[in-house]
Order: sequence, then structure tokens, then C-alpha cells
Amino acid sequence: MEPVQVGLLGLGTVGGGTVNVLKRNAQEIARRAGRGIEITHAAARDINKKRICDTDGIQLTVDPFEVVSNPYVDIVVELIGGDSLALELVMQAIDNGKHVVTANKALIAKHGNEIFAAAQKKGVMVAFEAAVAGGIPIIKAIREGLSGNQIKWLAGIINGTGNFILTEMRDKGRDFADVLKEAQELGYAEADPTFDVEGIDAAHKLTILASIAFGIPLQFEKAYTEGITTITRDDVSYAEELGYRIKHLGVSRKTEKGIELRVHPTLIPERRLIANVDGVMNAVLVNGDAVGPTLYYGAGAGDEPTASAVVADVVDVVRALTSDPENRVPHLAFQADALSDTPILSMDDVETAYYLRMNASDKPGVLAEVTKVLGDHDISIEAIIQKEPEGEKKEASVIMLTHQVLEKNMNDAISKIESLDAIHDQVTRIRMETLSSD
Ligand code: NDP
Ligand code: HSE
Repeated sequence: MEPVQVGLLGLGTVGGGTVNVLKRNAQEIARRAGRGIEITHAAARDINKKRICDTDGIQLTVDPFEVVSNPYVDIVVELIGGDSLALELVMQAIDNGKHVVTANKALIAKHGNEIFAAAQKKGVMVAFEAAVAGGIPIIKAIREGLSGNQIKWLAGIINGTGNFILTEMRDKGRDFADVLKEAQELGYAEADPTFDVEGIDAAHKLTILASIAFGIPLQFEKAYTEGITTITRDDVSYAEELGYRIKHLGVSRKTEKGIELRVHPTLIPERRLIANVDGVMNAVLVNGDAVGPTLYYGAGAGDEPTASAVVADVVDVVRALTSDPENRVPHLAFQADALSDTPILSMDDVETAYYLRMNASDKPGVLAEVTKVLGDHDISIEAIIQKEPEGEKKEASVIMLTHQVLEKNMNDAISKIESLDAIHDQVTRIRMETLSSD
């Protein structure tokens, strides 16, 4: 049988990695797929640029539309990024009857509903394993491996750049900007790195995971997003003193009122495996009613780890080319006409425990004032430590851990605390998750 022809859009970190993996492992991949797979065409902005891969034998162009319109291309692999040109190209590819593989989480989280509908109509496949958690086959695990379960919640470290920065800051005391620069050089960061450090990239990925876990349409615009830029070294060390690690987590939980969809820094008990996931590694915890908690771990970014997921998708498409097209695994795990309208909860309705840090005048009665405000809002305290002023400073740092509280109550309490004369600056708050099996 003739090899399947792949047209690549983008020859950067992931595109280059994909060429390398497909070439190096061609024989094994063909044995798995049942057919040879060849990258025959590729598009990049500068076709003379030095690449991490050998492009010999690949027809190069600066016009990506040439690739999606080429009659010989069976599968288009979109690795350009962004959600405008990429959307046009993917829709055009589908319209031309091409199967599509993409690593582009922004594209899927924002336009997936429309893309999947077009693909279904046209009878082509759209695969996006590499869009979430780099090389970890988490989409396949939830969509296929856990399909007997009701998923209760999932929580993950799903941005490699952010985790790399937090780890280097904690372990080596390195500067935020310096580590971010290294993450960019290593090819981990997005074209716009604010997507990584402000949590937007993680929110894209969480949106996709939640849809697959709970059978709801993609609703990126409803995700709550908070980044890592406000975390200080003090918070990291106080959290450790209390037995916790700060991780940037995406959390989605099904409650009676709706589905939580939130990305923010989170205190996690240090004994949890996920609290010890460092560097560019990602990990996703998924709790199903039948299986209980399951943990998936691996490299969350980088050329070949991501290529591993891209190539696996290409193999899936090639296998499906010879099977019943009506009997494919649905894009969002649930049949398209069986998605539910369970609402995404507003952050006000989310309940979590909290870490609070405030700078307070070092005088009697201040703690009593603060605890009264918390008590008035039904917030109970689990632990408290006070750091005495050092040197010339007249303020003490007060650190508290609270029990579960409704976000709305915590917001009200924090604004009351911040208005007390004895409290200086804003109160730092970081949500906490025990991630226990219930
Ligand atoms: P890069 O910036 O390294 O590569 C982008 C590629 O697209 C480059 O080869 C670039 O060409 C090409 N390109 C951009 N615009 C055009 C255009 N108008 N016409 C033709 N070619 C164009 O990005 P990455 O490889 O890092 O990321 C690609 C996708 O994969 C993104 O969606 C990203 O979110 C996702 N992803 C990235 C991961 C990673 O670890 N980097 C991990 C998981 C997903 P040129 O090289 O000539 O400039
Ligand atoms: N910028 C992303 C990250 C790439 O650092 O996780 C992988 O999706």
C-alpha cells in the first residue's frame, strides 16, 4: 500500500520534533499503523532557516494554504499556533476532505466546537492529543481508558513553562525573568509567554480536559484564570513550613450546582505525588467513581515529547482510514448529540480552603480583629503562624490556613480585613486543595 502523505504546517519546536520522530522511528511506526507515513510537504515563514530537523525530501513552501489544498496530502498537521490563521487553515483542510492533527490548545479550546462540527459533517478526523500536557496521552486515557467511569474531578499541572519557573525559583532561588528566558530558549514557552505565566495556556488545556471528562461543549470563556506572577519566595517558604507546596493547578470538579473550571496557584499537601512534580514535567490527577484517583505524569512541553503525541495521533488517523468512519471515538468523548448543558460555576460559587498572608502592625489585638472578621464570614482557621518583624520593620507577617469556604465569603472577608487600620498592603491569598480521593 502507498504511504500516507502528511502535510506539515510549521517547522518550529514541535514541527521539527515531529519530522525527527517520524523519520527516526519510521519502520516501527509503519508496523503499528499498518502503512508507511511520509511528510511530503511543509510550510514555514522562512524556508531557508536552519532547522532542528532534516527537511530533505520534503517540499517546502511559505504558503500554508498550498499544503492544505495539495491533492496528494492526506493528513494536515497544524503546528503553527495561534487561533486566527490556524483556524482558517484547519477549516480549509477539513473542507478539502483532509484529516487534521493539531497541538494547538488555543485553537481547540476557543474554536473546537465549530471545528468538530465541520469535521463530523465532512467525515474527517481531527485529533489533538498534543494540545494537553505535551507527551502525556491524557486525552486518550480519559476519552477511552476511563470511559466506564463518572469522572468526579480532575486536577493537573498542565503548563510546563510555569512549573519549570516555579521549580527553579524554589530550588535554586533563581529570578522569574531569567528562568522564563531559559524556558523560551528551550522551546517550552508559547509565542506569547504571558499565555504561560498568566494561566491562559493552562485554561485552554483545562477547558479541553473538562469537556472530555464531563461531556460538555468547550467553554474557554467561562474558565477562571489566575497566573503565577504574584507568587513570592516568602509564600513558597511559608507554605513549605506548613507542609504544603505551591503549584499552578488547573482544577475541574463536577458539583451538584455545576462544573468548576479554574486555573490558579494552589497549596497542595507536600505528601501528594503531584506536589513533587517538578521542572517541565506535567501531571494530571483524574478521579473516577469506579477507578478512584489515577495519576498521569510526563514531559509537558518540548520538541520530541510533544512530537510523541502528534505522531500517535497521526498513527490513529492512519489506522482509522481503514476502519468504519462512523464508529470513531467522539472528539469530546461523548457522542456529539449527547453533550450536557450542566453549567460552569462562577468563581463565587466555588468552595476551597485558603492560605492567607497579611502584613499586620505588631501590636496587641490585631489577630483578634482579623479572626473576628473571618468568624463573621463563617470562615474557620486550621493553622496560623506569625513571623515577627525583622530589622527595622514594624510589621509582622501573619499566615493562616482556613477550612473550606465559599469564594464569595472569602472575597468579602478579605476586603474587610484589608480595610482594618492594622493591616498593611493587600492580603495574599492562595487556594488550597487536599486532592484526597473523595
Ligand atoms: P514555534 O514558534 O516553534 O513554531 C511555529 C512554526 O510555525 C514555525 O516553523 C513558523 O515558521 C511557522 N509559522 C508561523 N506562522 C506561519 C505562517 N504564517 N506561514 C507559515 N508558517 C508559519 O512553535 P511551537 O512549535 O512551539 O508550537 C506550535 C504549536 O504547538 C502551538 O500551537 C503550541 O501551542 C503547540 N505546542 C507547543 C509545545 C511546545 O513545547 N513548544 C507543546 C505542546 C503544544 P518559521 O520557523 O519560519 O518562523
Ligand atoms: N507552553 C506550553 C507549556 C507548551 O509550557 O506547557 C506545552 O503545551
